[in-house]
Amino acid sequence: MTKLKLFVLLIFFGFSGIQCNFIMTVNGNPNAKLKITQINNQSNKLTAMNTTNKFEFKPLPYSYDALEPSIDKLTLEVHYSKHHKAYYDNFINAIKGTEAESMDIKDIFRNISKFPMAVRNNSGGYFNHTFYWESMKAKGGGLPTGKLSAAITKTFGSFEEFKKQFSEAGKTRFGSGWAWLCLDDKGILFICSTLNQDNPLMDIAEKKGVPLLTMDVWEHAYYLKYQNKRPDYIDAFWNVINWEEVAKRYEKAIK
Ligand SMILES: [Fe+2]
Repeated sequence: MTKLKLFVLLIFFGFSGIQCNFIMTVNGNPNAKLKITQINNQSNKLTAMNTTNKFEFKPLPYSYDALEPSIDKLTLEVHYSKHHKAYYDNFINAIKGTEAESMDIKDIFRNISKFPMAVRNNSGGYFNHTFYWESMKAKGGGLPTGKLSAAITKTFGSFEEFKKQFSEAGKTRFGSGWAWLCLDDKGILFICSTLNQDNPLMDIAEKKGVPLLTMDVWEHAYYLKYQNKRPDYIDAFWNVINWEEVAKRYEKAIK
């Protein structure tokens, strides 16, 4: 090998490691592509330097009929596969080629006032629905237990009073939006509601906090079964709450 060829090869590969560029799929999902830009020869580890799509459209954690009769199969199917999917697709399109592509969703929310409305609406629609699906389960309902139960009683006086206030937040949300149970920065529970696809993690929220439980009160969440009777849907929602998941979120938030 001539000295010239050796020099060219050293320039090509670099002195510290072989630089590679290739695309791999994650979990067989062609939409979730990691752009691997470097292989470090010394540690022999792949380092993901950038993601072309870090935001995952998670599978629904149960079947479409799992929440029957409180939430009917058709509503859940349309809600997840059409509405939620559209928010996700529109969110991905809205951030394409921007710095938001590599940001954590919560960092986007912390700075949401600096983004266009398309990002605000669709990032919220993407996140809020995932959070809502995971707030429910088949054969849910009942009562919260442990530290969460004690905190609810301490803050609201009783579970019944909490239920009344949370339901009221959903019933009185004018137009479309969400009801939330959150933890504030002093470690105190509070109930709020947000308009459209806003949420309490956003910098534009009236009161910011860590979400623990949410209820979608957009008409698309209940209209096929309950038509204009939003209070009936809200009453039924209490039968499908996943209190174990809410308690886990609470335990994590107070640490
Ligand atoms: Fe929804």
